[in-house]
Amino acid sequence: MDGANLSVVSEFVFLGLSNSWVIQLHLFLFSSAFYMASLVGNLLIVFSVTFDSNLHSPMYFLLANLSFLDLGVCSIAAPKMIYALFRKRKTISFGGCITQIFFIHAVGGTEMVLLIAMAFDQYVAICKHLHYLTIMNPRICVLILAAAWILGLIHSVAKLAFVIDLPFCGPNVLDSFYCDLPQLIKLAYTETNRLEFMGTANSGLISVGSFSILIISYIFILVTAQKHSSGGLSKAVSTLSALVSVVVLVFGPLIFFDIWPFPSSHLDKFLALFDAILTSFLNPVIYTLRNKEMKAAMKKLCHQLVSYRKMS
Ligand SMILES: *[C@@H]1O[C@H](CO)[C@@H](O)[C@H](O)[C@H]1NC(C)=O
Repeated sequence: MDGANLSVVSEFVFLGLSNSWVIQLHLFLFSSAFYMASLVGNLLIVFSVTFDSNLHSPMYFLLANLSFLDLGVCSIAAPKMIYALFRKRKTISFGGCITQIFFIHAVGGTEMVLLIAMAFDQYVAICKHLHYLTIMNPRICVLILAAAWILGLIHSVAKLAFVIDLPFCGPNVLDSFYCDLPQLIKLAYTETNRLEFMGTANSGLISVGSFSILIISYIFILVTAQKHSSGGLSKAVSTLSALVSVVVLVFGPLIFFDIWPFPSSHLDKFLALFDAILTSFLNPVIYTLRNKEMKAAMKKLCHQLVSYRKMS
């Protein structure tokens, strides 16, 4: 009985991204810089929207919630990866691995629903302009958020149900820098082909499905806006292009992982890094650079912080 217990995997070992010292140093500088930038950028958005009453509208509330999620996205795997870069043996406990998988999918699922909600918000703002505040009232906003979180949680629990009962009792090396669900399933001591297929089909369906919903709704918004007015169109195009860039950034790598049929290559791992750190940095950049109100609010917030420090 003790023998059986001893052989149960209690931790997983990450191979990391590279063994070369020079590449690791570059990765360290690159990842920590972008991680810090993501934290600062997204925190700035959350604080600007919370404290500036000019930005108290559904669109900005949703944007602040997206930034809040991005804070989560970049903090799940990146800090541990950065910390482990220069360690010889990069390990994570079994519980830590399950926790990572849980949060990656919960936050990721919630973010997908939130992006769809933001497309709906833009549809109402552009095509049902006069009824915007009645349709997107505070209660609806809270309902949308609650729905996003609940769907994200369900998605994540469903993913965990795949792995929680699998027997892990031997191989424990993951060729990655975070707990990647498909790779984890491969380590289980059982017939995993069907599980792998179902996992791939499931996430492939979800990411390609939501991506298609989003792109179709943007096309729908553009066509409707064009019919209604000519002035509305240019505004719609500029807002939507920001949204579309974010959506492509978020979903591009996801779709690549989910339906790429070949075994993991280096490209795969670097793309995962890109998804974990760069995307959450670029979201605020894309939104704020194209948005005058947001820029003004951020400037105000920075001035307030500076004058507060001078006073104290
Ligand atoms: C998220 O949206 C809700 C509802 O609109 C809002 O009350 C809340 O402040 C937002 N959260 C953040 C972090 O901005």
